[in-house]
Amino acid sequence: MAIEDATVIITGGASGIGKGMAERFAAMGAAHVVVADVNLDGAKKVATAIGGTARQCDVTSDASVAALVNDTIADLGRIDYFFANAGVGAGGDITASDQLWDMAWKVNVMGPVLAARHVVPHMEAAGGGTFVITASAAGLNTGPVSFNYAVSKHAAIGVAEWLAINHGPTVNVQAICPTIVDTPMASEFGEVMFQPLSVDHVVDSVIAGLKTGAFIIAPNEQPMAMFQAKANDWDGFLNNLQQRVQGLKTD
Ligand SMILES: NC(=O)c1ccc[n+]([C@@H]2O[C@H](COP(=O)([O-])OP(=O)(O)OC[C@H]3O[C@@H](n4cnc5c(N)ncnc54)[C@H](O)[C@@H]3O)[C@@H](O)[C@H]2O)c1
Repeated sequence: MAIEDATVIITGGASGIGKGMAERFAAMGAAHVVVADVNLDGAKKVATAIGGTARQCDVTSDASVAALVNDTIADLGRIDYFFANAGVGAGGDITASDQLWDMAWKVNVMGPVLAARHVVPHMEAAGGGTFVITASAAGLNTGPVSFNYAVSKHAAIGVAEWLAINHGPTVNVQAICPTIVDTPMASEFGEVMFQPLSVDHVVDSVIAGLKTGAFIIAPNEQPMAMFQAKANDWDGFLNNLQQRVQGLKTD
């Protein structure tokens, strides 16, 4: 089903990329957009502006995710697209605390896992659906961003791959892999390797990616080029990044 006719849930829909997707999908005529976020006030603002529904949901809580999914099925009858988009920058290097690791793991990895647990069976019973995880370019290629972010986003891509293998093609599973995006989260990353992308640009590429159904939705070319280069020469990839980190190379 095209997004124009679909019932859509977006987690992390109160801000940034999630808000951008909610606004655009509604403008395209989506049948219903559910804006889910731990920040209910933020979700309400977005939902009110687009004529959607706001739901408070903490993606790290199985009960909260189950309620989001089950209530949506009860109210709207179906979930055609689920965007497991909520994420945290977490932040931290080798000294990062257990609490920061726990938060990154629970939101960035278990968030999509819990969502899949509850959404995928409904999609399979309905004969199909699309489940999209907002991962990151940092999940394809570790970069000099936070330790727990890079690791948790690699795991998020692993979650998407496993779901695609085991529940596709009935459920089409896709992973969005942007480099840095101009959202509130971006300020947490400090020095970055790429110019920030606009939310609009990312949403454009998501819409194009939903049409092709390709597993990876990459809003710019560099992450896939780096990924291919890494596969050809992993030591070269590491050496390049070591030099960047040491400030010996700026290109
Ligand atoms: N901004 C970037 O540079 C960038 C780059 C690549 C990938 N991403 C990913 O894009 C996604 C969206 O990030 P963004 O940049 O729009 O950030 P953002 O901070 O603007 O929005 C994130 C939203 O997620 C919500 N959220 C956080 N924890 C939650 C929880 N436990 N339950 C429910 N909602 C929760 C927040 O309240 C917020 O509204 C994230 O998964 C992020 O990792 C961001």
